[in-house]
Amino acid sequence: MTMTHASGTEGSSRSDTPSFAGYRIAGAIVALILALLLVVQIFEIFDGDARTVPEVRWGTPPISEVQTGLSGVRTQELIRERTTLQAPRGEFGPSPENPRTFQVGPEVQLGTEEIDTPSALQTQAWSTPSEDAVAMARGSNHVEGISTLPYVGAEVFERPFARDWRLGMADIATHLGALAILGFAFLLAAFLAIRGRVPISSGKSGRKIKRFGFLERFTHWMTSGSFVMLALTGIVIAYGDTLILPFGSYVLGQTGWLATWGHMMFFPPFALGVLVMFVMWIRDTLPSKLDLKWLKQGGGLFSDEVHPSARRFNAGQKLIFWTVVLGGGVLILSGINLMFPFFWLSINGMGWVMLVHAITAVLMIAVMLGHIYIGSVGMQGSFWAMWTGDVDRNLAAEHHDLWLKEIDAKRGPAE
Ligand code: HEM
Repeated sequence: MTMTHASGTEGSSRSDTPSFAGYRIAGAIVALILALLLVVQIFEIFDGDARTVPEVRWGTPPISEVQTGLSGVRTQELIRERTTLQAPRGEFGPSPENPRTFQVGPEVQLGTEEIDTPSALQTQAWSTPSEDAVAMARGSNHVEGISTLPYVGAEVFERPFARDWRLGMADIATHLGALAILGFAFLLAAFLAIRGRVPISSGKSGRKIKRFGFLERFTHWMTSGSFVMLALTGIVIAYGDTLILPFGSYVLGQTGWLATWGHMMFFPPFALGVLVMFVMWIRDTLPSKLDLKWLKQGGGLFSDEVHPSARRFNAGQKLIFWTVVLGGGVLILSGINLMFPFFWLSINGMGWVMLVHAITAVLMIAVMLGHIYIGSVGMQGSFWAMWTGDVDRNLAAEHHDLWLKEIDAKRGPAE
């Protein structure tokens, strides 16, 4: 059955419908800000400095003339040339697969001159690998080739797979992720500006119906609270250099430390919440033919008059549920692997898992923004379903007509 006008709505008129002009203006302002941020983000993709660089750069720690036996300026130049070779994206080589001579523009070339004192760059700080670095870089027999970079950790970055990994992380996960999050937030704000808040089109009836019990609400807020914290701490971990470094390296260090631990602390309540939601709501979220009709009508989101039929959860809500269960599941499993590095996986396996974790996370953040929007400012009265558990009967009649009838039939019509 497909309704175009909600049957079963009752009481009251639309006189109690709040003026939505304020929401639309706020939507327009936020859309404008997000559009600007999108432009900045698109510029970031093409400005050429987006790369994962090794932690140890030339000059860190300062290398003195006494240590190297070369002039200070020449030492800095040499190290700069070597580390710059890692810089450009998409330009790989020389490597076993790609033996061509490497050249980065006219200004930087791979130098072939002999170093007067071969031990020049072999200072303690540059050349002594930590145990962990050795285990990672040389723990297996799968690493081939020679690294000419002046510190051993670079071998981890410079393996052929790691070069692809850097590209995937820097370009796909980080940049496209930011684009997805900002882009989707922009669409939501623009939707609010153009469409306004989706109203209860028959107006509030003033009579309530219970939609969610205590366990459902408790689980929802535990899962959503921890998801929001995981998203924020994850954003600090992934985008700290861009978002927090401008406030100083001390601030980045402290927030980075907190974010890393916080990210692990919020994992258990999230994982538990996803599991309980799955068990609690799976019965009401299995796909049905009604969902196709709902989707065809855009869920009635684009018109006050259209209210496609739905049972307890409509197709949009089912999509959110499955995003949480499947996306959350991938994040949980990959996250467990990341919490126990190299326990189950090799270094390449870890690389893949990190990429999958990052890409799933940014996509899920974008989708959940849509849910948070529609569950709060986007739709009149919907927030109360998860806050007090009760919604106005007219809201239920417009979005969950078949469910309302079922409940009324079981309990007898409204209290
Ligand atoms: C933080 C802001 C959030 C708000 C204001 C919010 C609001 C709501 C509301 C009002 C509902 C009930 C809709 C109905 O009447 O059926 C709901 C349901 C639900 N929420 Fe949230 N939510 C938030 C965050 C989250 C997060 C972060 C997750 C998961 C990671 C989540 C997962 C769910 C699921 C699975 C449902 C049931 C399916 C659905 O109705 O879409 N929520 N939420």
